[in-house]
Amino acid sequence: MPDYKKGLAFTYVQGTKYSRDRAPRDHLGAIPSPGRFKTYPEAELLRLSQPDLSEPADLWQCLARRRSERDTTKKPLSGEELSKIMWAAQGITARAGMYLLRTAPSAGALYPFETYLYVDKVEGLPQGIYHFNVAEFALARIKEGDFNQAITAAGLGQPVVRKAAVVLIWTAMMLRCMEKYRERAVRYIPMDLGHVCQNVQLAATALGLGSCPIGAFYDDEMNELIGVDGEEETVLYMVTVGKLS
Ligand SMILES: Cc1cc2nc3c(=O)[nH]c(=O)nc-3n(C[C@H](O)[C@H](O)[C@H](O)COP(=O)(O)O)c2cc1C
Repeated sequence: MPDYKKGLAFTYVQGTKYSRDRAPRDHLGAIPSPGRFKTYPEAELLRLSQPDLSEPADLWQCLARRRSERDTTKKPLSGEELSKIMWAAQGITARAGMYLLRTAPSAGALYPFETYLYVDKVEGLPQGIYHFNVAEFALARIKEGDFNQAITAAGLGQPVVRKAAVVLIWTAMMLRCMEKYRERAVRYIPMDLGHVCQNVQLAATALGLGSCPIGAFYDDEMNELIGVDGEEETVLYMVTVGKLS
């Protein structure tokens, strides 16, 4: 038997297959959902300006030019640039009953993740860690201050993280997805976030900004930095954004 068949990845993929003759095994019992959105009611809420979506951008050119750029500068992003990036990530584009549909698809329209930001250099926005409130299109300030060293250290010391003006940090909200999809949820959450990250990279390209997806970091150091437990909610993916010159 090849060694990979003894590992977690093999066991997981085989154990979460759907097939016509076998219902998914489920030994989990009831899983309560933590709700559709996380909010920080005690935190100061800073509304983002509604982005101007009338400016044209050529999709084919953006697809052709999208690249992971690691050499961004510390020039500040404008508020409009940040609004467009956040809108591309998780802007609400339609309502269907209780569902708030977004710019990116999500299994069951559950959007089982939360978006945090480390803002290093954005005009008019103090440095700090923020949580993105989807429904209000606003940022809740969690911690003010310069966390450039801390986020770079948690990001395996990668210079791309140190050089970013903004880092978007996505957590997986495990139970929001597992309530419906049980163990198979762990397949869907990274798929959802892949769509979101591509939206951010295309928006960054359209704006002439640099961006780079980040999957390598010390998980619990990143969890601690943004103040999540690393169990029901854990950092899964990030993307850096900054000016190219
Ligand atoms: C899931 C994922 C994780 C990644 N993690 C990192 C990372 O931690 N650091 C980094 O510099 N690039 C990272 N990248 C960027 C890839 O190295 C990059 O996409 C790849 O080299 C192809 O280049 P391109 O995006 O410019 O086409 C990641 C990309 C993906 C999709």
